[in-house]
Amino acid sequence: MCGIVGYVGARECTEVLLDSLSKLEYRGYDSAGIAVFENGEIRTQKSKGKISDLIEKMDKEGRISGHCGIGHTRWATHGEPSDINSHPHGNANITIVHNGIIENYKKIKEFLEKKGYVFESQTDTETVAKLLDCFYEGNPLSTIQRVLDEIEGSYALGIMFKDYPNRIYAVRKDSPLIVASGENEAFIASDVPAVLKYTKNFYLLEQDEIAVLDNGRVEFYDDHGAPIRKEMHIADFDMEAAEKGGYAHFMLKEIHEQPTAVRTTVTPRISDGMPCLEECGMTYDRLKSYNNIFVVACGTAMHAGLVGKYVIEKIARIPVTVDVASEFRYRNPILCSEDLVILVSQSGETADTLEALRLAKRNGADTLSIVNVKGSSIARESDMVLYTHAGPEISVASTKAYMVQLSVFYLIAFALAYADGKISTEECKRLTSELQTVPEVIDKILEKPGDCQYVASQLVNSENLLYIGRGLDYALSMEGSLKLKEISYIHSESYAAGELKHGTISLVTSGMPVIAVATQRDLFDKTISNVKEVKARGAKVIMVTHENSDVDSDAADIVIGLPTIDDLLMPMTAVVPLQLIAYYTSVLRGNDVDKPRNLAKSVTVE
Ligand code: M6R
Repeated sequence: MCGIVGYVGARECTEVLLDSLSKLEYRGYDSAGIAVFENGEIRTQKSKGKISDLIEKMDKEGRISGHCGIGHTRWATHGEPSDINSHPHGNANITIVHNGIIENYKKIKEFLEKKGYVFESQTDTETVAKLLDCFYEGNPLSTIQRVLDEIEGSYALGIMFKDYPNRIYAVRKDSPLIVASGENEAFIASDVPAVLKYTKNFYLLEQDEIAVLDNGRVEFYDDHGAPIRKEMHIADFDMEAAEKGGYAHFMLKEIHEQPTAVRTTVTPRISDGMPCLEECGMTYDRLKSYNNIFVVACGTAMHAGLVGKYVIEKIARIPVTVDVASEFRYRNPILCSEDLVILVSQSGETADTLEALRLAKRNGADTLSIVNVKGSSIARESDMVLYTHAGPEISVASTKAYMVQLSVFYLIAFALAYADGKISTEECKRLTSELQTVPEVIDKILEKPGDCQYVASQLVNSENLLYIGRGLDYALSMEGSLKLKEISYIHSESYAAGELKHGTISLVTSGMPVIAVATQRDLFDKTISNVKEVKARGAKVIMVTHENSDVDSDAADIVIGLPTIDDLLMPMTAVVPLQLIAYYTSVLRGNDVDKPRNLAKSVTVE
C-alpha cells in the first residue's frame, strides 16, 4: 500500500529515488512523485500513473536535481488517482510522503480550514502536511511529535523542512519503514529491496520512533524525543533476489524459485528425520497442549491456512478454524489461553492480520506467525515466529510465499500429529521424508509447461469459469481461482464439487471452462460424478489429477497429469499448474502480470 523512499548523500538524488521507487512499485502504481532539495528550495515533480509516466513527464519538464529528497508510489485510498492527489504533498516549506491512512483526517481538516488553510487534494495526507505547517515554530522534532499526538491511524512518513536542507525526518506507526545507511549516505524505504543496490545495512523503526537523516548520518529518537541507539540489521539476500534474472516477469521467476524455497524452509526444520519447530519455542509438549487452533490471514495466505486446516484435522485430529483476518477482528471470536492462533503473512505487515494478532494476544491465546519478511511487524509482535525462507516476493500475485506457507503447515501438522500420538515415529518420518521430495516433483512439473500454455490458450477469451474440487482439492482450488482472477481479470469462482448442484450449476453453459482438481484418491470417484454433471451441461472440463488416474475420455477435455506423491501433499504440486495457467492466461490477454490493476502487494490499510 504505497511505497516511500528517501535519500541523503553524494549521489544524484533523483536517480536514486526513481531507481528505489521502481523496486517498490509492487506496492502501488496509481501515481508517483518525488521532492528534492535543489539550490536550497524544495522542488516537486509528480504524475498520475506508473513511474514510467513520471519519468516521461520529468524528461519533458526537465529533471530536478540535488542530493536529498523523498519519493512515493501510490495505491489510492482517499481520492482518485490524479496529478493533484499524487504525493509528495505540502508547500515550499514542508513537504511529505505518506503510506497509510489518517483516520481522523476530516476533524483535522476542519480545524485547519478554520485557521484559513485551503486544501487542493482529496487526500488524508494533505492534512498531515498542513498540520505540520500549522504547528511549525522552527523545531522539526517537536513539531513532528506534536503532530503525532493529533493524528490517528497508520503512517510511514518522510518529511523535508526547507529550513533544514539535506535533511530528512522519518517516522512510522503500523506501516512499515526502514532506515538504511551506506558510506556517507542514508536512505528510508518501505521495504529493503528498494535500497539493496546501495547497501545491505538497515534499521527497523519502531512505533513512533523518529529518524533524522542528515548529510548521510542517521540519528534516532524515541517517542519522547530522547536520542536512542538502534541495532543494525544486515539483509540476508542480495540484488539478484530482487531482480527478474532473465525471466519475463517476477511471477514466472518466483514460480520457478519454489523448489529452492521449499528446501530452504523445510531442511533446517528436520532433525533425525522428524519435524522440529523448537527454534521458536514450539516443543512437542507445547504443541499438544492446545485445544483449538485458529488460522487467521488474508488472500493467498488464508488459502494456505485452508490447506493447513484439512491437513491438521486429518492427521492430528485437532479442530482448526480458518478466518479471513478482516472478519476475525470484528466477530468477537471466542479465544482462551489453551488456544493457538496462527497468523500467516508474506509481508508481515498486512493491517488486518496484524490487528487480528493483537486481538488474539489481548484475549490470552498463544500466537504463532508464519511470515516471510524478517523483522516485519507481525513477526515482531507474535509470541513465536516461523519464518518462511522464500526470499523477496515481488510479484503482486503470490506464488512462492503460498508454497512455503504450505510447507510450514505440513511440518506443524506432522509434529502435532506425532506429539499427540496420532501417528507413529515411522509414519511421521515417512511423511517428513515425502515432504522433502516435493521440490524435485515441482521441478519436473516446471520442465513441461506446454499443457498449461495450451489450457491458457483455451481460457483466454472466457468471461467466467469455475474451479471445483473436494477436500484438499477444494481448499487448493480456492487459490487457483484467486490467482487466475487477480491477474487475468477473468471472473472465476471456486466451489466444493458436491455443492455445485445446490445452485451454482445453473451458471454452467455450453463451452464454459471448469477446472476440476482431483488429486485425492479417496474422493476421486465422487469428484468424477460432479465433473460429469457439468460435462453433461456442456462445460469444457480441464482436469488436474495424478498422471496415472483413470479418467474416462468423456469426462474431461484436457487432463493435466501430475507425478504421484502422497495424496496429503498433492496441494503443493497441484498448485503449480494452476499458477502457470493463471500466468500464461494473463500474458496472452496482454495484462501487466506483476502489477495487476487495482492491487498492491502489501496491504497496510484495513
Ligand atoms: O502479505 P500477506 O501475505 O499478508 O498478504 C495477504 C494478501 O494480501 C495476499 O496474499 C494477496 O491475496 C495476494 N495478492 C494474492 O496473490
